[in-house]
Amino acid sequence: MSHIRGRFSKPADKAVAQYTASLPFDHRLYQQDIDGSIAHAKMLTRQGIITDDEATQIINGLEAIRQEIEKGKFEFKAELEDIHMTIESRLIEKAGEVGRKLHTARSRNDQVALDMRLFTGEAIVDTLNGLRNFQRALLDLAEANIEVVMPGYTHLQVAQPVLLAHHLLAYFEMLQRDIERFNDCLKRVDVLPLGSGALAGVAYDIDREFLAKELGFSQVSRNSLDAVSDRDFILEYEAAASICMMHISRLAEEIVVWSSAEFDFIELDEAYATGSSIMPQKKNPDVAELARGKTGRVYGSLIALLTTMKGLPLAYNRDMQEDKQGLFDTVDTLLSTLEVMVGMVRTLKVKAENTSKAVERGYILATDLADYLVKRGESFRKAHEIVGKLVSYTAKKGKSFAELSINEYKKFSPLFGENVRKISIKSSLAARDVVGGTAPKRVKQALAKARKIIEV
Ligand code: ARG
Repeated sequence: MSHIRGRFSKPADKAVAQYTASLPFDHRLYQQDIDGSIAHAKMLTRQGIITDDEATQIINGLEAIRQEIEKGKFEFKAELEDIHMTIESRLIEKAGEVGRKLHTARSRNDQVALDMRLFTGEAIVDTLNGLRNFQRALLDLAEANIEVVMPGYTHLQVAQPVLLAHHLLAYFEMLQRDIERFNDCLKRVDVLPLGSGALAGVAYDIDREFLAKELGFSQVSRNSLDAVSDRDFILEYEAAASICMMHISRLAEEIVVWSSAEFDFIELDEAYATGSSIMPQKKNPDVAELARGKTGRVYGSLIALLTTMKGLPLAYNRDMQEDKQGLFDTVDTLLSTLEVMVGMVRTLKVKAENTSKAVERGYILATDLADYLVKRGESFRKAHEIVGKLVSYTAKKGKSFAELSINEYKKFSPLFGENVRKISIKSSLAARDVVGGTAPKRVKQALAKARKIIEV
């Protein structure tokens, strides 16, 4: 680090060097850092700031360093503080004096902002792929079980029958909005900060449009202070990831519940379940539990960075170095969660005999009975009350609706007739024949639409 301590007469205290170093975690940015430096060197030579020969030496040196790192032959020295200083000092070691010219018209402040934007952009592409795979897995499961009926719940109390496919398509929609959020975030990540210098811009005739093209950005930042100070693109990724994890966590919770002996709606594949160290009978849904559990750390990173950023004056402050571990952890957590969830969903077995038994319980057709009365002229509120009393009576007798005689029905309303018997799970589903409803015909249309969305 000696080359940035010109004004100092002694090295940093050991504990300070360790405390301030980001190298232990930002070494992960080496690809982005080298790509950024190569583009910068190309730009410097095009603008006549360094010679062609100097640029060639710098670029060759950087490519050689990339190889060293990739082959595990690179020695990361903690005293070099961060990945930017590490690569630069290795370049000077390898290429000699010319290496000292690379940092012309650049600051670590715009350099790190660039690296983080490149990293986040790539993370978004991977995230979008993971989300699409997850959507595909849900659609395949829905299609393979298109006939399967299950209870829909509110308050985790049996509410109305729904198709399992309809339930799964609800998650498809959530993931679709997640995809939109990440795509939207990508638009704001896609802005080149390089050329902002330390904070005020640079005093050289640089070509930022060329840099943007080289590095695949479609826009150039409009304000140098903003470009080096802003980390809201990271916050946006973390916010979108938090919402996405929340969605995944809800499905994970349902998988935990559904695989319990009490529900027994699904069976997890052995490759996606774990045993107990003491209870031999156990087949635990740890994958789903961890997906649910890891949601907490993703929220944590978002809150941590929001809090770090809230009091910072413009422009760069070292506090901002704290953006990295949280983002890396969030990306790793989300991508690995998506991967295991896809595997779990693809291998789980639906126990249709149990889900269809479950719809026979809980007076699940009570709403349909109320609708029956409404269609015969009763007001909905009155019909609700009548059926409420009917449920209470039927439950006291320990019967189901099907076991009541028509006379018993008639005691509650003269509008009940023989055709009340036609009310069934099937008729209940078919009746929800609205856009977005669980009628089988609507669900089939929704599946087809979802397929189309995935294919674009
Ligand atoms: N390691 C630093 C970070 O991650 C790089 C930028 C350092 N800039 C500076 N002026 N100290 O934020």
